[in-house]
Amino acid sequence: MKNKTVLITGASKGIGFALSLKMLSEGYFVIGTSRTGVIQSVAHENFLPIALDITRTESINKAHQLLLDRFDTIDSIINNAGIGTDLNQLTPDQDSFDSTFAVNVRGVVFFTEPLLDLLSKKGSIIMISSKMGSVGTCVAPDSVAYRMSKSAINMYTKILANRFSDHYRVAAVHPGYVKTAISETAKVHGRLTPEQSAENIFTFLESDFRTGVFWDSEAGTELTW
Ligand SMILES: NC(=O)c1ccc[n+]([C@@H]2O[C@H](COP(=O)([O-])OP(=O)(O)OC[C@H]3O[C@@H](n4cnc5c(N)ncnc54)[C@H](OP(=O)(O)O)[C@@H]3O)[C@@H](O)[C@H]2O)c1
Repeated sequence: MKNKTVLITGASKGIGFALSLKMLSEGYFVIGTSRTGVIQSVAHENFLPIALDITRTESINKAHQLLLDRFDTIDSIINNAGIGTDLNQLTPDQDSFDSTFAVNVRGVVFFTEPLLDLLSKKGSIIMISSKMGSVGTCVAPDSVAYRMSKSAINMYTKILANRFSDHYRVAAVHPGYVKTAISETAKVHGRLTPEQSAENIFTFLESDFRTGVFWDSEAGTELTW
């Protein structure tokens, strides 16, 4: 049987890296992106590293062309690349705001749109969001750009789920509080290893999930938008 193909952005480290290894071990063909295009720590015949800086149109176009040349279809897209430069910061600053929106929102939208034609008819798109983007449950005063960027990507998830209600399945997934380099506090206080988070995300991806859902993969429950 042909391997299923998954595209994972931000596969060089953290959750994207662990998820790449998990999906390779489950028999997927994995296309993993990083800005350098080199991910030396994953040496596997079913792994294709490609260069992508999601903030640069030229880089997005190049990555798209490579994908169109090499693949007839992709079964899943996992939009995982993300930054959190104002995490835990009380007030917003313009540099963090611009860079966070460039990666977490603008980058995700304009990387995903032209790829939709490549997605197989029963394909799925997972946005690695965060429960910090939940408007309904927010009681915190901090991380303005990060929280707002994840709320925006939640809205994009809903829009895509509405647009493709008859074939693709689209979901926003909170990966849990994970020990990664996204912030100093996550590195120290994260409850999950990237490997544990990857297991949970994989379980969700393989499940019979409802399109348009916002899912907490650490708790295994639905989240409030
Ligand atoms: N860690 C947590 O507790 C937590 C909680 C909730 C949600 N999340 C979300 O989970 C996702 C993964 O985060 P992580 O914790 O694994 O962080 P991480 O270890 O810092 O990894 C971030 C990934 O994003 C990529 N990236 C950064 N800027 C990019 C750009 N301009 N273009 C393309 N790729 C870029 C990085 O690739 P390069 O090699 O190119 O730098 C890296 O692979 C993010 O969307 C984050 O918001 C994390």
